[in-house]
Amino acid sequence: MKNLIVYYSLEGNTEYVAERIKEGIGADVLRLFPKKAYHDKGFAKFFWGGKSAVMAEKPELEAYEVDLSGYDRVIFGFPVWASNFTPPLRTFIEDNKAGLKGREYAAFACQSGAGAEKALAKLAKALDVESFEHTAILIDPKAKHSESTDAQIDEFIERLR
Ligand SMILES: Cc1cc2nc3c(=O)[nH]c(=O)nc-3n(C[C@H](O)[C@H](O)[C@H](O)COP(=O)(O)O)c2cc1C
Repeated sequence: MKNLIVYYSLEGNTEYVAERIKEGIGADVLRLFPKKAYHDKGFAKFFWGGKSAVMAEKPELEAYEVDLSGYDRVIFGFPVWASNFTPPLRTFIEDNKAGLKGREYAAFACQSGAGAEKALAKLAKALDVESFEHTAILIDPKAKHSESTDAQIDEFIERLR
């Protein structure tokens, strides 16, 4: 099965998981970058990122090349923002509606506390599916790195195989 990981990461936690999955199952990776980068420090980080997520914005993305027809499954990864998935994924889904049709989906979410279940449900809705067969929820897997989070990622990789 050919897998593509599509993810956004502001502070490296989602990137950490995406790289582990890439190694674990031999997936290709597409990291999304908004043209106008989000603030990554202090109050501005939470204010502008939170507002963007709540408003369900679709920020313009840096150019990327992908042929989705070459993949059986797309694995989405994102940090939870205000109990929602991050806006760059919303842009990606909107821009690739036709290419995403017929793919299987899986998803993982990074968070520091709560909201991932809601965010995953919103992502499923945006993709027009009931739910995901495989999901994982990780608590700041890089910033609060621990053996138990790594074990959780390994278990997710095992399920994706
Ligand atoms: C704007 C903003 C909103 C956030 N909202 C939530 C939230 O609702 N629930 C939560 O548990 N963590 C929240 N977080 C924390 C991140 O989801 C968490 O630290 C995640 O691991 C960061 O992933 P990244 O390093 O890939 O960006 C928020 C972070 C930011 C910047």
